[in-house]
Amino acid sequence: MKQRSPWQRTHTCGELHGAHSGSEVVLNGWIENHRHHGQLIFVDLRDRYGVTQVVVDAETPDAAPGLFELVRRLGQEDVVSVRGLVRQRGQNVNKNRATGEIEVVARQCTVLTEAEPPPFEVLDEVEANEELRMKFRYLDLRRRPLQEALVKRAKFVTAIRNFLQRENFIDIETPILTKSSPEGARDYLVPSRVHTGKFYALPQSPQIWKQLCMIAGLDRYYQIARCFRDEDLRADRQPEFTQIDLEMSFVEEHDVLDVVEAMVVHGMKEGFGIDLPQPFPRFDFAEAIANYGSDKPDLRFGMLLIDCCELARKSAFGVFAGAMANGGMVKGLCAKGAAEKYSRKGIDELTAFAQTYGAKGMAWAKVTDKGLEGSIAKFYAGDAGQELIAHMGAAPGDLLVFVADSSKVVHKALGELRLKLGTALGLRDPKQFRCCWVLNFPMFEYNDDKQRWQFAHNPFSAPLDWDVQDFAVDTEQHRSRAYDFVMNGWELGSGSIRIHRPELQAKVFSFLGIDAATQRANFGYVLDAYKYGAPPHGGIALGVDRLVALALGREGIRDVIAFPKTAQAFDLLSEAPSLVSQEQLDELEIASTAKRPDGA
Ligand code: AMO
Ligand code: AMP
Repeated sequence: MKQRSPWQRTHTCGELHGAHSGSEVVLNGWIENHRHHGQLIFVDLRDRYGVTQVVVDAETPDAAPGLFELVRRLGQEDVVSVRGLVRQRGQNVNKNRATGEIEVVARQCTVLTEAEPPPFEVLDEVEANEELRMKFRYLDLRRRPLQEALVKRAKFVTAIRNFLQRENFIDIETPILTKSSPEGARDYLVPSRVHTGKFYALPQSPQIWKQLCMIAGLDRYYQIARCFRDEDLRADRQPEFTQIDLEMSFVEEHDVLDVVEAMVVHGMKEGFGIDLPQPFPRFDFAEAIANYGSDKPDLRFGMLLIDCCELARKSAFGVFAGAMANGGMVKGLCAKGAAEKYSRKGIDELTAFAQTYGAKGMAWAKVTDKGLEGSIAKFYAGDAGQELIAHMGAAPGDLLVFVADSSKVVHKALGELRLKLGTALGLRDPKQFRCCWVLNFPMFEYNDDKQRWQFAHNPFSAPLDWDVQDFAVDTEQHRSRAYDFVMNGWELGSGSIRIHRPELQAKVFSFLGIDAATQRANFGYVLDAYKYGAPPHGGIALGVDRLVALALGREGIRDVIAFPKTAQAFDLLSEAPSLVSQEQLDELEIASTAKRPDGA
């Protein structure tokens, strides 16, 4: 066996404790900080595994000559090797640190690399702004919260791989240079040198490839897949992100949901030590909207939307009766114990909030011992008031809010009000995790900007009704066999049972206004593959970045990605995208019409 060099570590900076005292060790790491106290210098030495306090005492009899002087001139982030004796800290134990029982009394120190003063201090609680941290991401990544995120993310992904391997899924890599398909988000394009004037596209997801794997008879596919989408970015969106992507043959919805549910439970436990309550409730899309005003319900709290249409119809309150007469609806929420929390000003803020989601107003009442108080109290005196209180399941101290409008506006506004009230009342505990499934999404949705129908999930999702004759009839009523996986109000995954018959696939494309020639040009190879025997199949993709961010309680997905991009899809570290040389462009026969910032 090769011998260890004298400077190489015997232990990491995270593993020494009381039982090591008296032994000589060598530690390697970065200087997190050092404090001078006359004859003594205290150094915090950091590596991935933790921090250990090193003491340099000018009086240490067996110290190497010049040790004190050497350490005195060291600076933050210098990389050093320290040889020394482990000593109990006695009275001064640091309970906040795994190695807090001990310190290492240095006998020798070797400087492995000197560091320039870092542009920001590498601390757990960061003070530097995010742009600076992204530019110097390798320094940011030295911080424990980021390292913890990457370690747990890797554990989670490994657990998922192990699980799927056991369940007979095959890990299959699919192409990164693929054919552009202009449906969905915008593609990232890659010009071809060999086929000048032509372009590859980076995959928005491996969707088509995994379906081809099913046609190929591979039966169960999975991949931890990188996906690329040129879309507007937000805290939970990056231009490249990672999916747990899988597909299964000869299955129905419950087969996919059962496997994925077990996979998520296993991964959350192994990766983050989180126990998820099971089974995950399964809601019909319409049921989720009716009860939660959302297709991604947050199940950490109740406060369901309550249908008040019957009471509203006979109400003396014009807004309620009017909405009913106009074919609209009235629903409400009962926020338990919230009456006192909301002053008149607070109620006005809630009303303004509801209005940003299209509501014309927000009717409200506080429940007291004597009946109702508030904007609708005068219409709900006496028995009518008692009837409403009973209908809402309310008690004194509760706050009731109502919206009267079209079904779409009522659900949107109350769904958002429910979340806002839930947050304000402390009902959305970030340490609690509740999952659910939402099934049977609408097949199509109308795009107001483009003034045409689009598929709601993807064009390969099967309709609930396989024998559908004409999608143009009652278009918005058509349901698809698409499902979403939801955790704490976040959409973490989407999938569907797919169409496996070519004529039905062609019918969907035609309805979406993709004519036969365009179908051929963009999807001909898929339609051809279907001709040769596609098994019934379905699958799903889960967003790894989102899931990890949620499990770790991080603000956005950038905090769980090693090298993320800014909201402008820019990599501040390597400065990509960047200009390329004229030679490179000439080789591709590409002439750019963009004005080059360098004036070339
Ligand atoms: P979908 O487009 O819904 O489905 O994506 C699946 C999941 O991927 C995550 N996700 C993202 N995460 C970070 N940044 C983004 N820009 C981003 N976009 C999506 C979300 C989402 O739920 N091929 C289908 C799946 C299938 O039908 O099997 C697909 O890609 O968590
Ligand atoms: P008004 O009759 O305009 O004084 O409104 C009485 C109360 O009804 C106020 O609290 C309004 O915010 C509320 N309100 C008005 N329009 C609606 C609506 N469409 N849905 C629910 N409440 C409304």
